[in-house]
Amino acid sequence: MRIAVLGTGGVGHALASRLVETGHEVRMGSRSAGNEKAVAWADAAGDAASEGSFRDAAAFGEVVVNATGGLVSVEALTAAGADHLAGKVLVDVANPLDFSHGFPPTVVQPEGRSLAESIQAAFPEARVVKALNTMNADVMVHPRSLSGSHAVLIAGDDSEAKSVVAVLLRGFGWTAEEVLDVGELHASRGLELYLPLWLNLMASLGSPAFNIAVVR
Ligand SMILES: NC(=O)c1ccc[n+]([C@@H]2O[C@H](COP(=O)([O-])OP(=O)(O)OC[C@H]3O[C@@H](n4cnc5c(N)ncnc54)[C@H](OP(=O)(O)O)[C@@H]3O)[C@@H](O)[C@H]2O)c1
Repeated sequence: MRIAVLGTGGVGHALASRLVETGHEVRMGSRSAGNEKAVAWADAAGDAASEGSFRDAAAFGEVVVNATGGLVSVEALTAAGADHLAGKVLVDVANPLDFSHGFPPTVVQPEGRSLAESIQAAFPEARVVKALNTMNADVMVHPRSLSGSHAVLIAGDDSEAKSVVAVLLRGFGWTAEEVLDVGELHASRGLELYLPLWLNLMASLGSPAFNIAVVR
């Protein structure tokens, strides 16, 4: 598939690289074409990799991944253009964390609404799926680097869009059983509210190389 990865940070880099490795064509997007980190990534990642503005990338992608800062994601997606998001699967991996008052950060969910829901409200024609926000970037793309079975939680209103995301996740190495659909997009509230606990777990464990498993 042709996939837009909006975001030039560690998450955008990890996802874009792994998507190329698993056979996709990827364009990394940033606020302006020619972003130093995006150019370096595209040069290193081979012929299936390219870079451009958020808008260039979103126009290119059949699927769009939001890997921008959670507090600026709606701004970044606005720059990408509602016309370039309409009808497309929009995978939201961002966390709306406010570190301005120090640690632990606050999860910003105005009136209790998640970032994913805010994105869906701002871009009603996009098919938003919350996924992968509950783990470190390396774990997202190399799930088999941890021992045992663990879970990637996804939420969204569009079942077909969630199936598309599940296929991409299988490409990263997640098994079908590990991709756990937790329901409609309002379930993304909990996925985002998990982040303070994730940060405390990371501090306790001294490493971001962990994830949660759901056992019955
Ligand atoms: N770190 C992790 O392992 C991890 C795990 C799960 C989820 N997440 C979430 O994944 C997302 C990406 O994290 P990250 O650490 O890779 O990157 P980040 O530093 O949070 O975000 C980088 C991206 O945000 C864009 N950006 C910054 N200010 C902007 C603005 N005012 N308007 C529009 N775009 C703006 C940057 O654009 P330019 O490219 O133009 O600079 C860049 O592409 C975050 O929401 C984070 O919470 C992170």
